[in-house]
Amino acid sequence: MASTGETASAAPSTHRELGTWSTVKASVENEIAWVVLNRPEKRNCMSPTLNDEMLEVLDAVALDREARVMVLTGAGEAFSAGMDLKEFFRDTDALSPVEREIKQRSCFEWQGPRLRQFPLPTIAMVNGYCFGGAFHPLGNCDLAVAADDAMFGLSEVNWGIVPGGNVPLAVAHTMSLRDAMYYSITGETFDGRKAAEVGLVNESVPRDRLRARVLEIAEMMKTKNTAIVRGTKETVRHIRGMGWTEAENYINAKFAEALYADAEDGRAQGLKQFLDDKSFRPGLEAYKR
Ligand code: ACO
Repeated sequence: MASTGETASAAPSTHRELGTWSTVKASVENEIAWVVLNRPEKRNCMSPTLNDEMLEVLDAVALDREARVMVLTGAGEAFSAGMDLKEFFRDTDALSPVEREIKQRSCFEWQGPRLRQFPLPTIAMVNGYCFGGAFHPLGNCDLAVAADDAMFGLSEVNWGIVPGGNVPLAVAHTMSLRDAMYYSITGETFDGRKAAEVGLVNESVPRDRLRARVLEIAEMMKTKNTAIVRGTKETVRHIRGMGWTEAENYINAKFAEALYADAEDGRAQGLKQFLDDKSFRPGLEAYKR
């Protein structure tokens, strides 16, 4: 599988590294944070070190004053080949259950709640292999775009475990029951086009268009009000498991919370620019920030 060249391009002047980690690279370029799982020789499989580092990286991106969108991708041929079968599984077999839990908890933390509640919109850019545990962060990114020839697989069944780490929920939240069941119990691989067809990703594009398409979406997201996007994405994600009454209460609370959290008072600006200035049409674009 060809590389996207994620690590190869020359750094433009606005490029700024967010720190130094052994398994992840993170930088901000023109208000877009690029988080790259960086163990290409191991197909970016996720070790306890990578999981610990991802918690730090997510904090660094969330705290960055410039970043307005985050893209998660992988270096080289893979998005991620799932959990590190050696370091995450075999090497922790001898630990006590509590020791193992401590060693493994950063995984569930960053891939789950930390991504779901991330303050910025997140886009998974699936550039290659995406197996097993990698479906968890994939499902918890807000949007996902894959290369047509990326390879997906719920390979747990192939080596003797039930999918863990909330992978089944990530799958069940995106695919239909039939597709989720088929790929979970067969472990059959599928490509980016199929991933788009079954709803696991928003779309797939030819490999040489992947970065450009993700940039297009990221640029669009930059024009939106971050506090309102955050309230919106949390609402859309969390109401799915609720009944009507709970959802109505939750939506009302999120609605009020987002207005309170919105330091730029987008609602007033939007109303003024449309109703008084007649300088924009909300059906077609975001208000001028
Ligand atoms: N865990 C540990 N090491 C891995 C993993 C993994 N998930 N994936 C790849 N590697 C390592 C290989 O052991 C190999 O290491 P080595 O060079 O030290 O021998 C290196 O990465 C390259 O792997 P290859 O298999 O040689 O690469 P290839 O490009 O031929 O194949 C593929 C890539 C298809 C991704 C293959 O490596 C593979 O099947 N990986 C496992 C995928 C998987 O099932 N993941 C677990 C899902 S279940 C879960 O996450 C809970």
